[in-house]
This record gives sequence, structure tokens and C-alpha cells, in this order.
Amino acid sequence: MRIDIISAAPDLLQSPFNHSIIKRAKEKGLAEVVIHDLRTFGIGNYRQIDDTQFGGGAGMVLMIEPISKCIDALKAERTYDEVIYMTPDAKTLNQSTSNTLSLQRNILILTGHYKGVDQRVRDKYITKEISIGDYVLTGGELAAAVLVDSIVRLIPGVIGDETSALTDSYQDNLLSPPVYTRPSEYKGMKVPDILLSGNFPKIDDWRSDKAYERTQKIRPDLLDESS
Ligand code: 6GU
Repeated sequence: MRIDIISAAPDLLQSPFNHSIIKRAKEKGLAEVVIHDLRTFGIGNYRQIDDTQFGGGAGMVLMIEPISKCIDALKAERTYDEVIYMTPDAKTLNQSTSNTLSLQRNILILTGHYKGVDQRVRDKYITKEISIGDYVLTGGELAAAVLVDSIVRLIPGVIGDETSALTDSYQDNLLSPPVYTRPSEYKGMKVPDILLSGNFPKIDDWRSDKAYERTQKIRPDLLDESS
């Protein structure tokens, strides 16, 4: 899979992508993440990429011309399955969206900054808009890092333990059950007997029950979501 990211603050993306899971995916040749500095396509000597908004109002808006030139240059090289714009005014990312995106070959992500991007960019180029939650970040870069992490870890071979991505919280719209490791007793606090019993069908049942219980208590909204 190849992921291209267009950003006005590319430095913000270096650290997350040169560590952890994404670094490993890159080293194994399973995913390639390429960051493009929007300012390269800026206008004039000052490489301008943003301007004040028509109609008045606080905040700068990313201009259509630099973004358009950048996207056109990338599209000339390959066909994108999705062109995603990271913005708080969109549907919230969930596991189902990450699962679907992990099956694609080429994804282009545009991250907004300041007040956002000229609406014409969204109308002309964007096939999918994604928010990562109901709060506002300074820019879309950290949100893009979250999105890319959630996608890349699902690519087969990226995570060592093949089954672990499938047993994550949210894969079946349930939170994870509690987990324990050694010692089996610490200062009087005991691990539930069932987990030490060796009875794996019963352990599976116990985990399902606990996952359901925890979901019911903390995120009952997940139980009446069919997606
Ligand atoms: Cl995608 N961008 C920004 N700027 N803020 C956010 C977000 C995205 N998702 C949640 N908050």
C-alpha cells in the first residue's frame, strides 16, 4: 500500500511515521508513506499557501491553487482509490472505515491547517472526509497520523501476531475484556480462576461475557450500532 500525505506542516508528521508500527511496515516493504510539503507548490516568492476568507471572519484558509497543483502532480503518477480530507466537520473515524481503507492500494490524504481549505478543493478532489473525534485540533496532521496508524497495522504481516489485529477492541463493536499476566496473585489481588483453568472454551465464553458487560457499562451506544 502507498499513502501520500499533503501537509502545510510536514515536520509534525515525521516523528510518528519514523517510529513504531509504521516504521516496521515501511522496513518490511508492506507500506510506503510519502509526505509532501504544500509550500513547494506555494504562490510567488513567498510561496503563499493561505489567505483570508471571503466574506470576512477570523482565520486563514488554504488556497485552491497550491493544493490543486500538488494533487494534479500526484494524480499524474498514479490512480488513487481515495482522496481523503482530514477535518473536524466530517463523520468520525471508526474501525469499519479503517478496515475498508486497509484493503486499498493508493490513498491520498490532505491535511488542513488554520481555518481549513477552500470549499472548491473539497468539491473537486475529495472522495472521503474524516474526523477523528468531537474536539478540535490545530491541524489535520495528528489526525492523519492516527488514521494511518489504524490502517497500516491492519495490513497482513505488519503486526507480528497475526490474530491480534482481529481480536482488538471494536473489531466486533465491543470493547476488550480485561487481561492479566504474571504473577497470578499480587498483594492479595488475584487473577480470576477461570483464566488459570486451562479450559479454553470456557475462557472464550468468559471473555465474551466480560467484553459485553464492559461495553454495556461504558459504551452502550456501540451495542445499538449495526455498522
Ligand atoms: Cl481530522 N482535524 C482537526 N483539525 N481537528 C480534528 C480532526 C481533524 N478530528 C478531530 N478534530
